[in-house]
Amino acid sequence: MSKKYFYIFVCIVFVLVSGCKSDAGGQPDFDMTDYRPMAQVYKDYFYIGAAVKLGEYDSTPFYDAYPASVLESFNSFSAENGMKPDNVYSSDGSFDFTYGDRLVKYASEHGAVVRGHTLVWHYQSDNVFKEKRSKEEAREFLQKYIDTVVGHFRGKIYAWDVVNEAVGDGGQWRTDSPWYRYYGGPEYIRDAFVFAQKADPDALHFYNDYNMVNSTKRARVIKMIKDLDLISAGLDGIGIQAHWNLYWPSAAEIEKAIKAFADMGLLIHITELDIDCYNGNPSMGEIKYTSSLEKQLADRYAEIFSVFRKYSQYIDSVTFWGIGDEDSWLNYYSGGRFFDSPRNNYPLLFDRDNKPKKAFFAASAF
Ligand code: GLA
Repeated sequence: MSKKYFYIFVCIVFVLVSGCKSDAGGQPDFDMTDYRPMAQVYKDYFYIGAAVKLGEYDSTPFYDAYPASVLESFNSFSAENGMKPDNVYSSDGSFDFTYGDRLVKYASEHGAVVRGHTLVWHYQSDNVFKEKRSKEEAREFLQKYIDTVVGHFRGKIYAWDVVNEAVGDGGQWRTDSPWYRYYGGPEYIRDAFVFAQKADPDALHFYNDYNMVNSTKRARVIKMIKDLDLISAGLDGIGIQAHWNLYWPSAAEIEKAIKAFADMGLLIHITELDIDCYNGNPSMGEIKYTSSLEKQLADRYAEIFSVFRKYSQYIDSVTFWGIGDEDSWLNYYSGGRFFDSPRNNYPLLFDRDNKPKKAFFAASAF
């Protein structure tokens, strides 16, 4: 090897070794004593929320699964599944508020708020759809359902995802929704807001959906709000789900989505934030949480939170879809497909040992 190449070789080794030391050499990048609950860090900006398990589908309730120090990072909670129609309504016509009551109790004892997720959805609502209904019967049922559920939690749940994902991927409406079919059109969406507004006028009422950063989808949502005159029906805000990945969407696309709805006078809640480290690819083999992925995820969260801070006058809640990586639905789902056995994903801010990740500190640093 010539002197020159030997010198380049030594430089490369030096860079690699020093890179490893700072990134993954066993030395923590952050002093854990620096841990400040995220809800505290962001108290002047927005609520920091998490979707949580409450015992449904044999899960361990979140307050038994996580240490208090982790839970202190959140001052808003959504039920991951426990308040969806299938867990609230039985086809015999009875209602069960076990999981919602559990969440409300925990939140009230810990100074946190609850987002109600969700009242009207085409999915996880099979018990609701077991009966055949004419349009008039569907309307009556919709009113009864919303009156009963929102009425039960009146004054305890400050914001509701009244309607979830009613806009189509291919056309204006999700025409395969049983609600759309009962009604023979989209008027159920307006009815739902009118009923929810009446059942608890002091709560905030949201339309929640994914892909709001996509201009075509967003245009459909905006058209829906205008055509159905949803603001006069009680719509207060838009839930931007935020199931995103390491590359998509760009900060500029996120900004456009926030601005478009804020310009309509609507509040913004980020309702289901997680970052898919497989970038929506279901066929990729299992990846490890390397130091470069750790850094990429931290940079990505830093970027996203700087956008949220920039628009915090419009955003008053940012909710993660889960607390620790172990719990995330993204271990089981990718690109429209559920897996039989999990593939480790790393989408959240706490690792599988409930330790805050580099991404946690990056999202909290400003
Ligand atoms: C949608 C729903 C959520 C949840 C996530 C994935 O975004 O709104 O309730 O089911 O999918 O877990």
